[in-house]
Amino acid sequence: MEIIREPERMQALALRLRREGKRVGLVPTMGALHAGHLSLLEHVRRDCDVIVVSIFVNPIQFGPGEDLERYPRDLEGDAEKLREVGCHVVFAPDVGSVYRPGARTRVIVEELEDVLCGASRPGHFRGVATIVTKLFHLVQPHVAVFGQKDAQQAILLQRMTRDLDFPVELRIAPIVRDPDGLALSSRNAYLDAQQRSEALLLQESLRSAYRLVDAGERDAEILRRHVREHLSSGKQLRIDYVDLVDAQTLRPLRRLDGRALLLLAAWVGKTRLIDNLALEVRHNEVREVALEHIPGEETR
Ligand code: PAF
Repeated sequence: MEIIREPERMQALALRLRREGKRVGLVPTMGALHAGHLSLLEHVRRDCDVIVVSIFVNPIQFGPGEDLERYPRDLEGDAEKLREVGCHVVFAPDVGSVYRPGARTRVIVEELEDVLCGASRPGHFRGVATIVTKLFHLVQPHVAVFGQKDAQQAILLQRMTRDLDFPVELRIAPIVRDPDGLALSSRNAYLDAQQRSEALLLQESLRSAYRLVDAGERDAEILRRHVREHLSSGKQLRIDYVDLVDAQTLRPLRRLDGRALLLLAAWVGKTRLIDNLALEVRHNEVREVALEHIPGEETR
């Protein structure tokens, strides 16, 4: 496994691999790798010759007062885990080589970037869209995979990939959970035992809403309220948002009919966590669906 620190070297390798006809799969991460990240590699392994995992804590997607400084960093430990699961290239550039002095360009995905998580994290998604654009240019992947846990990010990046004609197939991998249901996240490391048990309310509230839909409820506001009430039993839990939206436009729904995304964000103590559930209602039947299988709006 090769570790590359310089963007120029990464791009030179990517161009060589392309010339040699190799298929490249990219797994973008910010490091502090857990089983959820490692599972992403399996979504590119089957049809890619070379797997590149990028590790870069992207400063421009963190707002003032967020956890940029304390975000867990462990390049050596991450490299060890990646070696074990058969990664070929780790791309781990320094901040100064990615954002050179004088850099002024940002990528904005209108309408999708300033709602939900974007409303409470202004600038976050333009930071994400900008770094992923740069990674697409530097790594030249045929396929890139993102986790469904960051559902808004995945939907926005899908939109960006189409809008900017990147020749990249974007895949969305299902959420990986601990046995008790908590979605894996590098930020779970910040939780103490009490907070961790309150964090379980996130997944439980989504499941509880699902049961309500299964019992026939279709009113989106009743479902949102139900989730909020469920979460309110957490003493250290503060809701950021709960919403039920169209899974392509992220616009709030009035009634559940077809495919939808129920998603939420909450602070548990000082840690902000997110979770979501993609579902489909057809002929009065409800089922959980993978976000991957919710087709994007056709543009051409
Ligand atoms: O999901 C993440 O870890 C990050 O937002 C990403 C996609 C690697 C961009 O920094």
